Amino acid sequence: MGALPGFTAELAEQEDPEIGDELIVVRWTDGRTERLRLHDYERLYSLPGVYEQIVTERLGCRSPWVMAGLLAGAADRLGWRRADLRVLDVAAGNGVSGEALDSVGLGVAGRYGTDLVEAARAAALRDRPAVYDDYLTLDLLSLSHRQRTVVAGWGCNVLCCVAPVGVRRSELPPAALAAAAALLADDALVAYMHDPAHGVPDPVTAGLWREHAGALGAHELERRRYVHRLTVSGAPFELEGVVWRVSRR
Ligand SMILES: C[S@@+](CC[C@H](N)C(=O)[O-])C[C@H]1O[C@@H](n2cnc3c(N)ncnc32)[C@H](O)[C@@H]1O
Repeated sequence: MGALPGFTAELAEQEDPEIGDELIVVRWTDGRTERLRLHDYERLYSLPGVYEQIVTERLGCRSPWVMAGLLAGAADRLGWRRADLRVLDVAAGNGVSGEALDSVGLGVAGRYGTDLVEAARAAALRDRPAVYDDYLTLDLLSLSHRQRTVVAGWGCNVLCCVAPVGVRRSELPPAALAAAAALLADDALVAYMHDPAHGVPDPVTAGLWREHAGALGAHELERRRYVHRLTVSGAPFELEGVVWRVSRR
């Protein structure tokens, strides 16, 4: 358990809960104790360092670096220069996924973040002020005209979603991913994570791209199973990393 400003934080003793319901105990130096769930993002991001301590270190989450590597590999195979790519990081949280793009030289030409909760943007600006050229708090399922204009104006040709996409409560809705894809340049890469458990097929299909993103061409370039992180009890929690090329010419 690492020391953090004014408090310490650790995972509570618990049986493996539903993903996202993991219980975190925060002990303040003035004697107060606070309990929160892992996916209580508003509160989690307001406590500096707790996301990194619990998710990255204790649970060993590797997805930001795995997804950056998949995107870099796909770009290389297409002959796209990594340094020229402009990346839209959706569900960007406090910027760990944006920062991981540095490890493969992605986002040099531009790197932009969005998230549903304002606490994510505030934490990214607080903890990683140099990572994003711009960062908006927005709901991809109900974008205003102004938000569409601003995000499209960023001119991104890569969409990176380091959060599972699917129909469960803890996942980003597929239509939200497709709405973001609709704001990309005419020829772009889209990377996201999918949980193949429970026999549910990946809801992001070529049909969804056509319906929501106006895409004429949509090709899956990569689908790789990997260990996203551990559960509380140390069991591997596997996801698929997926990369598509979506074009509208
Ligand atoms: C697991 S965190 C990942 C954060 C960051 N990408 C990373 O790798 O550290 C998932 C993020 O998805 C965001 N999120 C969840 N549902 C969302 C939605 N419907 N629209 C946009 N963001 C959402 C949460 O606010 C949270 O910041």
